[in-house]
Amino acid sequence: MSETIREAIDTSLAAITPRISARPKVGVVLGSGLGAFGDTLTGLVKIPYGDIPHLPSSNVVGHAGNLCFGKVGHVDVVCMQGRVHLYEGHPIRSVVHGVRLMAKLGVSAVLLTNAAGGLIPEWSAGDLMLVTDHLNLMGQNPLVGSNDDTLGPRFPDMTHAYDVELQEALRVVAKKESITIREGVYAGLLGPTYETPAEVRMLRSLGAQAVGMSTVHEVIALRHMGIRCGALSCITNLAAGITKNILDHKEVEEIARQKRQELIKLLSGWILNAVPA
Ligand code: HPA
Repeated sequence: MSETIREAIDTSLAAITPRISARPKVGVVLGSGLGAFGDTLTGLVKIPYGDIPHLPSSNVVGHAGNLCFGKVGHVDVVCMQGRVHLYEGHPIRSVVHGVRLMAKLGVSAVLLTNAAGGLIPEWSAGDLMLVTDHLNLMGQNPLVGSNDDTLGPRFPDMTHAYDVELQEALRVVAKKESITIREGVYAGLLGPTYETPAEVRMLRSLGAQAVGMSTVHEVIALRHMGIRCGALSCITNLAAGITKNILDHKEVEEIARQKRQELIKLLSGWILNAVPA
């Protein structure tokens, strides 16, 4: 019989713990083109995903595959430099394995980043959006199947999927750094096609402000395990049909890269505010 989720987590942890000297307090997931933050940690220890059993590597351009350990100020951090997506064909339990590892390593909060399409015509490529809630439109849920009650409850509450205090902490940091941030609901779709203009109109009428192909499953797995979540979207383009532009992953990566410095400032401040000194 294949390993249970808990056994798989333990197998992965056995490959990680001998290589790190401190347990992380905060986890960070770095999305498309946003991986640079991982290299800014002090005392950086990088473990390639390939060295960690059960952690699949991403084949998507713009996603390095390293688990990065180190500090931001006084806070020990673990960073996923690159994530895997359901559309790559990995089983959903593999897609959320990385964040489950973070939870078992002992983090109390995970800050997730992603590249997303903006659904609001007045927004621009390069805007940053604090995620206040999500729509899981992926057609799948990582908790389907028998529930391991030692990981979390059968029916997790999602009322505050995105932690209210973490949201406020990001607003405070953005204000201090004079960085304008938008706020809104992130719609997670399976991809890998970008949306049609009709789907974009539908998403807007459903109450979403941004659309992407990640994050929602990770947040579900983390909430299952009782971990506080915060998420920040880099609006790399306006979604299909809002402008005359055709969508291209190269542009997504390029805009994300241009926002590198602002993102590093926001994430560093957010991490410091996410845990008590
Ligand atoms: N749609 C879905 N995912 C995305 C987009 C988009 O427009 N931009 C970046 N990721």
